[in-house]
Amino acid sequence: MSERVKIGFDGIEAPTAGVLVVPVARGAALPELAARLDAKSAKHLSRAMKAGDFHGRSETALDILVPPKLGLERVLLVGMGDAARYQDADWVALGGRIAAALEARKIKRAQLAIEARGKSRKAQRDAAGHAAAIALGAILRAYRFRKYRSKAKARRKEDGLRELTILCHEPSAAERAFEGRHALAQGVMLARDLVNEPANRLGPVEFAAEAQRLEKLGVGVEVLDEHAMRELKMDALLAVAQGSERPPRLVVMRWLGAKSKRAKPLVVVGKGVCFDTGGISLKPAKGMEDMKGDMGGAAAVTGLMHTLAARKARANVVGVIGLVENMPGAAAQRPGDIVTAMSGTTIEVLNTDAEGRLVLADALWYAKDRFKPKAMIDLATLTGAILVALGQEHAGLFSNNDRLARQIAAAGEGTGEKVWRMPMGKAYDKMIESKVADIKNIGGRWAGAITAAQFLARFVDDVPWAHLDIAGTAMASPKSDINASWASGYGVRLLDTLVAKHYES
Ligand code: BES
Ligand code: MN
Ligand code: ZN
Repeated sequence: MSERVKIGFDGIEAPTAGVLVVPVARGAALPELAARLDAKSAKHLSRAMKAGDFHGRSETALDILVPPKLGLERVLLVGMGDAARYQDADWVALGGRIAAALEARKIKRAQLAIEARGKSRKAQRDAAGHAAAIALGAILRAYRFRKYRSKAKARRKEDGLRELTILCHEPSAAERAFEGRHALAQGVMLARDLVNEPANRLGPVEFAAEAQRLEKLGVGVEVLDEHAMRELKMDALLAVAQGSERPPRLVVMRWLGAKSKRAKPLVVVGKGVCFDTGGISLKPAKGMEDMKGDMGGAAAVTGLMHTLAARKARANVVGVIGLVENMPGAAAQRPGDIVTAMSGTTIEVLNTDAEGRLVLADALWYAKDRFKPKAMIDLATLTGAILVALGQEHAGLFSNNDRLARQIAAAGEGTGEKVWRMPMGKAYDKMIESKVADIKNIGGRWAGAITAAQFLARFVDDVPWAHLDIAGTAMASPKSDINASWASGYGVRLLDTLVAKHYES
């Protein structure tokens, strides 16, 4: 994994040499740190802010070089904007912006001072939490995928921040708060790594091997091969895989952290199409390379399982991922083929490029059947139509359960991994009725993301279920405060928060 930034914590009195970053709220006359300066140095600082027209607005920063009396090379003031309104996601984003500001200045090592808002114990505790959130943001922003740069020089050029020491009043509280955040950062970066990896390096077998590595964290991992899936009659998933030389895999990852290992789990299911050519219904060449990311759902599930195990979440969560490659070829399925899913439902395959739902049909049914979930959530880069509807701002949320949908939407707001609920219903379900089989794998011209969701709904029975269409959010992501990479790792933070809020005892 591409671990890059070393995070440390220390007391606030410590800044000595080098670079010190100080976040400044909008309109603040002076950074709070200035309280510890003598009158003359404080004046200098305040003059520099005036001369630099710096007012703590978001997206602004001010360099103060060789400030007198501080023994520092430089103080970097970073604007926070309206700090009074900061929620957790804002602290994380601030950490990302700080990492970006340091990288822009080619600064590899820095200290960062987080002052408490007041002298109370509570204020100091809060500051420790903010410090941990900032650290998460900085790590995520500094992430790059550069393992295939063969030249050390080219790698170094992309080398950003290496070490960030956060100074606060309660460094040990911050360190404790950081443990869970660190586990989360690892999970997000694992998901990003998997999505960024090209398909020649990461097929179903290689992906399953990556998932198997979670065993060392205490996750129970089972890998079902083609033979096992045939026994289970997963013919919908197998039909997608049959055009590829590379055999499919179904991976089950179990983290049983609740008091009772027998308590019903939350089940999370991921679409893992390691590459989606479209199959015989071949995609156009332009942009097809992006389809190496068509396993973004499976990557998010794997990243989540990593995080939950690494932070020893007190919840039972099962991850199930269906791994295939969708290729045209002599053995590939044809448009018009009819396959029988594990559930017994027959499917007319009218377009082999609507393959994700075929994979999920069997993965969902299997997961539901075997684990009797408390709730089931799938993540899938399922349709281009969700991009048309929502762009890259929100993932599409589809659900048969209002409570679950609300919980997911709240976790999305809280983490900044936003979702937007889309409608479902009988009229849409009718659109996937087939003339010759029970259902067909495409709807009409309209409502493509919804008819895809209706298709999935056929394989979940009455389990409380939600589907996240992450085709717009998992990859080719616009740069954000906390991501400079092609893959975003979307879903890991959202689901981790959901588990923490609603599934941990
Ligand atoms: N993997 C694609 C969806 C996708 C599109 C993901 C863009 C990420 C970015 C999916 O398998 C697909 O091909 N969907 C088709 C469905 C259609 C044939 C009904 C689509 O959206 O065009
Ligand atoms: Mn497809
Ligand atoms: Zn696909």
